[in-house]
Amino acid sequence: MSGGPTPEAAESAKEPRRFPAGFLWGAATSAYQIEGSPLADGAGPSIWHRFSHTPGRIVTGETADVACDHYRRWAADVELMRQLGLSAYRFSISWSRVLPEGTGRVNPAGLGFYDALVDRLLAAGITPLITLYHWDLPAALDDRGGWRNPDVAHWFADYARLVVGRLGDRVRLWATLNEPWVVVDAGYLHGVHAPGQRCPFAAARAAVNLLRAHGAAVQAARAEGASQVGLVVNLEPKYAASQADADVAAAGRAEAYWNRQFLDPVFFGHFPEELPAMYGEAWPAVSAQDLALIRTPVDFIGVNYYTRGVVRHDPTAIPDQAGRVRQEQALHTAMEWEVFPAGLEEILVWVSRRYGRPAIYVTENGAAFPDPPQAPPGGVQDPRRVAYLAEHLRAARRAIARGVDLRGYFAWSLLDNFEWSLGTSRRFGLIHVDFATLERTVKASGEFYRQVIATHGAVLGEP
Ligand code: FCB
Repeated sequence: MSGGPTPEAAESAKEPRRFPAGFLWGAATSAYQIEGSPLADGAGPSIWHRFSHTPGRIVTGETADVACDHYRRWAADVELMRQLGLSAYRFSISWSRVLPEGTGRVNPAGLGFYDALVDRLLAAGITPLITLYHWDLPAALDDRGGWRNPDVAHWFADYARLVVGRLGDRVRLWATLNEPWVVVDAGYLHGVHAPGQRCPFAAARAAVNLLRAHGAAVQAARAEGASQVGLVVNLEPKYAASQADADVAAAGRAEAYWNRQFLDPVFFGHFPEELPAMYGEAWPAVSAQDLALIRTPVDFIGVNYYTRGVVRHDPTAIPDQAGRVRQEQALHTAMEWEVFPAGLEEILVWVSRRYGRPAIYVTENGAAFPDPPQAPPGGVQDPRRVAYLAEHLRAARRAIARGVDLRGYFAWSLLDNFEWSLGTSRRFGLIHVDFATLERTVKASGEFYRQVIATHGAVLGEP
């Protein structure tokens, strides 16, 4: 053999990096954020319904009683997805629509809503990815202790069995939980999300029970024939603000708390050793049986990525004692999140290498910027969102070139929607929603994403 690259290698080096064939181009939403009509047709209240109806909980004073009115406009919304050329759509099911008390009695109208939505998506050539839990626990279950109650694993598995049993003949991709970290940190530790608790003991128990419920639901979904079941986590690469030992240690704790808290138990069957130390006496004993349940193999990991974290030692920040340091020179979104596209490549490579090259979907990625409340006659020009998408998609493509088994990308979000405790004040949509008239207008970013999809990423250029 002569030296130098083979003709094939030389050719592949010249080739533009590509998204693999079959790569899913999606957009994502969640039930409480878009549906509206939370109590319609026999649905029960969720903790978010209760929370948003509690004065002072939502900074804008809004509720999601209407939100995007997707519960009534869903067919037109699927048509918009078809026009964008989406090949996939990630949405969540409202547990209390299908089981008004969380367990027991089924609400046929609730299940029927999702059944019709799935059929319409498939008819439009759009692959559904269903999240079973995107934060809207039935209020009746919160009354029984919610995620603090170990029984929640059985409640969640029964719910998964019901839904997969009904839709699993047509839906291939299932995610159990969306961002358990946020459920724990915002819902049980800092109280800024439903159910609004501020208790380390509750938070630590919720973390363990979320994982037990996840494992039980994976098994239940598989028993009902689901072929691809995964977990969606929010990840942020963590950087120390300085080389001082205290800051470097803080970055390590932040990484354990944010990025390894849920993935280590699922893949390795144990929690990061930092966690019990962080929680102190609030950390519960976890049995070997529970750890085995949690370690039930998954078919994919969903990664939600928005920003990175630069942290320094801060004893007041619980539980990881890692306080965020704002990067003054960087561009920030309306969420005050630093725009840091390289972090997506980094975190995808990190997941792939640490956890044995699982299949991955980017299940959320996007940016809030202040678009006007009414769409102007010339359309909604959102160049910063266009740039955000382009840069993150290039980062995803670099991760693929580095060996990550990335199978799809879901932009957050299809529609401007109800951004939890911030109400409708933060717009993430590819499609603008006028919350006075509920009129939809595809933004420039939506048009850009349509071109990305139509060219399978070629419009992104190099590198
Ligand atoms: C994620 C949530 C999603 C949305 C985005 C902005 O943490 O999963 O519902 O709120 O942030």
